Amino acid sequence: MTLTIGVDVGGTKVAAGVVDLAGEVVAQTRRDTPADDVAKTRDVIVEAVAELVAAHQVEAVGIGAAGWIDASRSTVLFAPNIAWRDEPLRDYVSEAVGLPVIVENDANAAAWAEFRFGAARHADDSMIMFTIGTGVGGAIVFGGELVRGAHGIAAELGHMLSVPEGHLCGCGRHGCLEQYASGNALVRFARAGARQEPRRAAALLDLASGDAEEITGPMVTAAAKEGDPVSREAFAQIGHWLGIALADMVQILDPQILVVGGGVVEAGDLLLGPTQQSYVDALAQRGRIAVADLVPAQMGNAAGVVGAGDLARRR
Ligand code: BGC
Ligand code: NA
Ligand code: ZN
Repeated sequence: MTLTIGVDVGGTKVAAGVVDLAGEVVAQTRRDTPADDVAKTRDVIVEAVAELVAAHQVEAVGIGAAGWIDASRSTVLFAPNIAWRDEPLRDYVSEAVGLPVIVENDANAAAWAEFRFGAARHADDSMIMFTIGTGVGGAIVFGGELVRGAHGIAAELGHMLSVPEGHLCGCGRHGCLEQYASGNALVRFARAGARQEPRRAAALLDLASGDAEEITGPMVTAAAKEGDPVSREAFAQIGHWLGIALADMVQILDPQILVVGGGVVEAGDLLLGPTQQSYVDALAQRGRIAVADLVPAQMGNAAGVVGAGDLARRR
């Protein structure tokens, strides 16, 4: 049986797993991501891979990384939310562990797992996925393959323009979707709501010891589930912007299916309800022509590891 290793490098965790042909994770390990330390992050990736390699016969390693990867899938050119700049990750890890390595964009890796084994496994041709986490990631599958573009940076959907001259983004531009539909945006909307209307946000503020600046994403989700109106509105706002972006992508590519994933999707209909409404409202075709259904991701936390591992196998 051919096994590969998939690694998912996020802002807080490095998760690595041994992935089989069916997309099952047969062994796994985790490390904290060393904050803002590029050299240590490299070494943590190598350590995690080495631990798995010691116990399993694997043929290759795939690394999903939250940044812009060059077309040869070796170098992280830039990462809006991590300190990577022209980081030659593939060669470093490959030399350290003695195996072939590919580096893939994190959202592309997660989307690949959904296309092969998850929410879009019945689609045989095309899907578009948005991942909603610290940042907003994107992926496009067409003709059964990930679209990577001429320079490797296709499907950077988090940096579509939502609001001209809007909030400053980690990429240096103003008004990107990522500033309006990410987990960070959710927290910003909720904090603003709680400052403006502390009484209506009483349930949310309770969780944050009364201080709007202490509100976190999990608090917004918990309060929204209990019916807190300000928290629900924060979800409705990110759903609003996400729905518009989904409709734009349908105008461009008309895929078979749309998938929304990432940590924030654990909030379920709190996010997906407003997103669906906004998507349908923003479509020029609404009611006239069949278009792609919007579905939540199914692979959960494992998506990045499974997708990176499967892509390593098809390298
Ligand atoms: C980055 C993407 C990444 C996404 C999710 C964005 O800010 O530009 O490369 O896929 O965050 O991590
Ligand atoms: Na991508
Ligand atoms: Zn941006």
